[in-house]
Parts: sequence; structure tokens; C-alpha cells
Amino acid sequence: MRIQPLPEHLINQIAAGEVIERPASVVKELVENALDAGATRIEVELEAGGIKRVRVRDNGSGIAAEDLGLALTRHATSKIASLDDLEAVRSMGFRGEALPSIASVSRFSLTSRTIDAAHAHALDVDNGEIGPLRPAQHPVGTTAEMRELFFNVPARRKFLRAERTELGHVEDWLRAIALARPEVGFSLTHNGRLLLRDEAVPQAPESRVDAVLGEEFLAHSLRIDHSAAGLRLHGYVGLPTAARAQNDRQFFYVNRRLVRDRVIAHAVRQA
Ligand SMILES: Nc1ncnc2c1ncn2[C@@H]1O[C@H](COP(=O)(O)OP(=O)(O)OP(=O)(O)O)[C@@H](O)[C@H]1O
Ligand SMILES: [Mg+2]
Repeated sequence: MRIQPLPEHLINQIAAGEVIERPASVVKELVENALDAGATRIEVELEAGGIKRVRVRDNGSGIAAEDLGLALTRHATSKIASLDDLEAVRSMGFRGEALPSIASVSRFSLTSRTIDAAHAHALDVDNGEIGPLRPAQHPVGTTAEMRELFFNVPARRKFLRAERTELGHVEDWLRAIALARPEVGFSLTHNGRLLLRDEAVPQAPESRVDAVLGEEFLAHSLRIDHSAAGLRLHGYVGLPTAARAQNDRQFFYVNRRLVRDRVIAHAVRQA
């Protein structure tokens, strides 16, 4: 076979293979975009564990009409422009890959309005084809909607689990991110039922800890806040009396990005 460049749609589907594994990965990418847009209120709505539909609505900065198409284009981002930016990156995203990847393995639409736009605009993507820009109704902010995950990639669809399991992954991830973002209000609705509502508590991070991990944890934990060598380490550690056998309630963040690291987890447990 001769060498030939891959078509754009296939490139996006290959990229999706690396980051989009299940509905929870879609929720993660869309919520991270909302956080990067400075949203203080993020609503997540799912159908069928997110396999049928994931909708994330935010009150962030929105996307200008003329940029909507670019948001769905590979390697197009508003978050970095140089290697220096990359080394000092503060946003959750920077690759400019998430939206085109999701849109290549689902039916996707993006509706958005910026503060100085007279009304919102929307774009639909079907099987990698970006449709025409259309006027829409939406307050300042963005709604991203993904339907029928992997409808065009049956091999991947086979690896999706039961609705309940997929929902569980979304809940776990949302809880973890909510802990790190007390200044943002989150809600989660599944098949029309409200499962979670965490009000924004910018002045009282401990009330988010209370909401997510429960009073019990808060009563049996210590607040730590330590600065040295240009670094700050802060959070809550459970007292030995509140120790659990599993580590499913250990959460670590670097610059508010959730990380899983065995060495750190073990070190904290040892301490
Ligand atoms: N909810 C949103 N509010 C405002 N702008 C958004 C939102 N979602 C996406 N965008 C814009 O669309 C661009 C593309 O989003 P996308 O998630 O594909 O890439 P990214 O966030 O820049 O990088 P990454 O692929 O690492 O997530 C973003 O850089 C941002 O400018
Ligand atoms: Mg992103």
C-alpha cells in the first residue's frame, strides 16, 4: 500500500480513541471546558448513563459566533499560543482536541453566546460534518450536547457497560472535581431525576467537603495548609480514627487538577 494522509474525520476518531472511553470521559472534557470558561454554575444532564445523551450547560464566557466552527476544529484552542504558555498553563485544556474528538464519535451540537452578542448561535456536527451556523436562544454561556456515543464506532460501543455503571463513573468524577472547585455550583440529572446539587460556596470550602464527603469525615479530619519552597500544600486529612480499608475517598490535586498517584497515596496513608 502507498503512503497517504489520513482523512480529517478519521484523524479525529483516532484521537477520540485515546481520550473518549466512556460517557464519563465526555462529561470530564465538557465540564473542564466550562471551568476554563470561568463558569460558576455547571449543569450536567444525562440519559441512559450518558450513552444516549450528555448535556453540559454553563454560564461561562461563551464562544463568539465566528469562533464556533474553530472550537470544533482540531488543534484550535484559545488557551495557549506558544511554548511559554504551555509551560505555564493554568487551564484544564490546551490541546484543542476534545470537542472535535467527541464530535467525531457522536452526534454533537454546540450552542453559545458571549456577553456582547445580541443572541446565541449554534452548530451541529453529524458524522464529522460541521453544519451551518444557525441563530439560537441561550443566555450568556455555553451548552454542549452529545448524543448517541459511538453510534458510528460499533467496536467501541461494545465496551460500554450497563447504564448504572456508566452513571457511577460520571458521579465519581463529578464528586472529585466538585471537591476541588467549591466556588462553582454543580448539578447532575439522570433520566430527568436530579441526583446531585452542590451550591457554589466560594467563602466556605469546608461546606463543599461536607456536601461531598459528609459531616462524618469533616468531624474526623484536620485542615492542613503549609507553604514552603514556593509551593503550597493544603487540604483535609482524615484522623486515624476515621481510617477506611479502601482508598476510594482519597483525592489528590495538582493545581486543582485531579491526579492519581500511588506513591503520594501511599505516603499519606503511611503518615
Ligand atoms: N464551555 C465552553 N465555554 C467557552 N469556550 C469553550 C467551551 N468549550 C469549548 N470552548 C472553546 O473551544 C475551544 C476548543 O475546545 P476543546 O475542548 O476542543 O479544546 P481545549 O479545551 O482548548 O483543549 P483540550 O483538547 O485539551 O480540552 C477551547 O479552546 C475554547 O476556546
Ligand atoms: Mg477542552
